[in-house]
Amino acid sequence: MAEIEFSSDLTGVDWAALKQALVADDFDNHRSPEQYRRSHENSHAVVFGRCDGRFVANGRILSDGVCNAYLVDIWTATPYRRRGIGREVVDRLLATVPGQHVGLFTDDMQPFYRALGFAPQAGGMSKVVGSWLVGS
Ligand SMILES: CC(C)(COP(=O)(O)OP(=O)(O)OC[C@H]1O[C@@H](n2cnc3c(N)ncnc32)[C@H](O)[C@@H]1OP(=O)(O)O)[C@@H](O)C(=O)NCCC(=O)NCCS
Repeated sequence: MAEIEFSSDLTGVDWAALKQALVADDFDNHRSPEQYRRSHENSHAVVFGRCDGRFVANGRILSDGVCNAYLVDIWTATPYRRRGIGREVVDRLLATVPGQHVGLFTDDMQPFYRALGFAPQAGGMSKVVGSWLVGS
């Protein structure tokens, strides 16, 4: 399998190609390519993983730059899993938020985050304001 290239550079990103890769791997949450672009541009840090120019991994972290951060959109394409790519993406994102408390939500990937040192924390709550993506 070819080498994975990691990048945090937003210049020239093909957002339609990113969405297409996520759709193909059933990890799209209905954002348009333009909404993916804004999500990334408004994040504290982002990571893309590419193999032969194609997106095979992605992740973002939101942060106030002081004490609180939040991991989102952590993804490795199915054929590339269990090779340390997800860990590399998260490690790169965490390196940008030293000293900060980092939260996340996951439906079923607790073993992955446990392997990276995260622990469950009771008391999490969330809500969608209005309807998902309407008005964003
Ligand atoms: C979660 C995800 C990003 C992990 O990516 P990955 O590249 O396979 O992760 P890594 O290879 O870096 O895994 C690091 C360690 O995490 C643990 N781990 C990863 N996936 C696991 C799984 N499915 N079950 C149990 N442990 C797992 C293992 O300890 C692994 O180390 P090992 O392979 O040496 O045993 C990937 O499975 C994925 O994209 N899933 C679908 C999207 C998703 O649910 N993302 C999380 C949203 S919150």
